[in-house]
Amino acid sequence: MSVITSLTDKDRIFTNLYGYQPWTLQAARQRGDWDNTKALLELGQDKIIDVIKASGLRGRGGAGFPTGTKWSFMPKTPSPERPSFLVINADESEPGSCKDREIIRHDPHKLIEGALVAGFAMRARAAYIYIRGEYIREAETLFAAVQEAYDAGLVGKNACGSGYDFDVFVHRGAGAYICGEETAMIESLEGKKGQPRLKPPFPAGAGLYGCPTTVNNVESIAVAPTILRRGAEWFASFGAENNRGTKLFQISGHVEKPCVVEESMSIPFRELIEKHCGGIRGGWDNLLAVIPGGSSVPLVPAKDIMDAPMDFDGLKAVGSGLGTAAIIVMDKSTDIVSAISRISYFYKHESCGQCTPCREGTGWMWRVMERLRTGDAEIGEIDMLQQVTKQVEGHTICALGDAAAWPIQGLIRHFRPELERRITERQGGGLAPMQEAAE
Ligand SMILES: Cc1cc2nc3c(=O)[nH]c(=O)nc-3n(C[C@H](O)[C@H](O)[C@H](O)COP(=O)(O)O)c2cc1C
Ligand code: SF4
Repeated sequence: MSVITSLTDKDRIFTNLYGYQPWTLQAARQRGDWDNTKALLELGQDKIIDVIKASGLRGRGGAGFPTGTKWSFMPKTPSPERPSFLVINADESEPGSCKDREIIRHDPHKLIEGALVAGFAMRARAAYIYIRGEYIREAETLFAAVQEAYDAGLVGKNACGSGYDFDVFVHRGAGAYICGEETAMIESLEGKKGQPRLKPPFPAGAGLYGCPTTVNNVESIAVAPTILRRGAEWFASFGAENNRGTKLFQISGHVEKPCVVEESMSIPFRELIEKHCGGIRGGWDNLLAVIPGGSSVPLVPAKDIMDAPMDFDGLKAVGSGLGTAAIIVMDKSTDIVSAISRISYFYKHESCGQCTPCREGTGWMWRVMERLRTGDAEIGEIDMLQQVTKQVEGHTICALGDAAAWPIQGLIRHFRPELERRITERQGGGLAPMQEAAE
């Protein structure tokens, strides 16, 4: 199969991403949403899952787990006492991430139709959309769009005339990043403090109210109806092997025009930035480093990211990850140590405190980062900090511990000379200013 790495308008799924048209049901219908959804449901549950599997769609919430495979873990015959649920993750609190809000405020019917199609495929009784507390206007739009869908008979009893009953509930969060972690989200939906659960059991076995549950990101769900309409092959024609489809990239920081844009997966970084962002502020020689997947992934120095394919495997190959495709671009005016220290503070602040390595480690790492920022440290502490990140990484209940460790590991890997320079300078060595990544 040929690999397409640059998208044209006719292949965009999110045709109202910028809100040039209304979000309403009437306008959504004109854009092709809710067009004979009953026929999509008539494909049957197993066929829908097969199409999503064949499309190569991988979860858009960060981890990139194959979506069709995830849906197939749900019970084929749920019991009336333990109905199945779909939880849609609209918490979007990862610094740099801002794609799900564009879907919700400008194209909410794509998400609601996706909820029905995905919920039906996994034999769920209802979908709960958990939306970030700070998304106040977005939540208003979503509530109104769900009401429109009920009024038109698209969801609720006999949804779309299919004979299938399916409810959609919208639940507003209260502003905790950790509630984006799927089991913390389930706890929060149940009215408890949002703290991750130990796994197993996985949500497909025992999730919301102890019932089989699948948690999916907004984008993963919103693309499903278009994949069913246009076919698995069409979706799989974009991006490299194992990294298929179109993707919402969110580019912030030191580019000429920051934006959210739907592009083909695997588009090279330089092409993405030139095509949609008007290049790097001050030119390509002025690029210092990029955090390509939201604040939780390691930074990549300029020389390594320029030609990297923007997908799961391409970014793994340069020691980072696609995450949510929230691309934070930093030019040479950036104080890179200060930037990573600020990220460390975020994870310290958002740790739920359940596990000791995360509760104690995030604060410890941030305090050392602050001393490295000012150079008020010993050279040996760089290695000690590295060791502490290794003691946090992989030793916690949820991936917040990893998310706190990885940005620091990336800094030490690529900018050790800058850390050493600050310490030496502070101690009176007086080295020349330097902030290039280590070769
Ligand atoms: C600390 C933390 C925060 C997370 N925040 C989000 C989030 O805001 N949105 C999201 O979709 N996934 C988030 N995730 C990932 C979810 O746990 C889950 O993997 C995801 O919603 C699955 O959806 P997908 O398979 O469609 O990607 C977070 C994970 C962790 C560990
Ligand atoms: S890793 Fe951190 S955020 Fe996750 S459960 Fe443990 S203490 Fe809470």
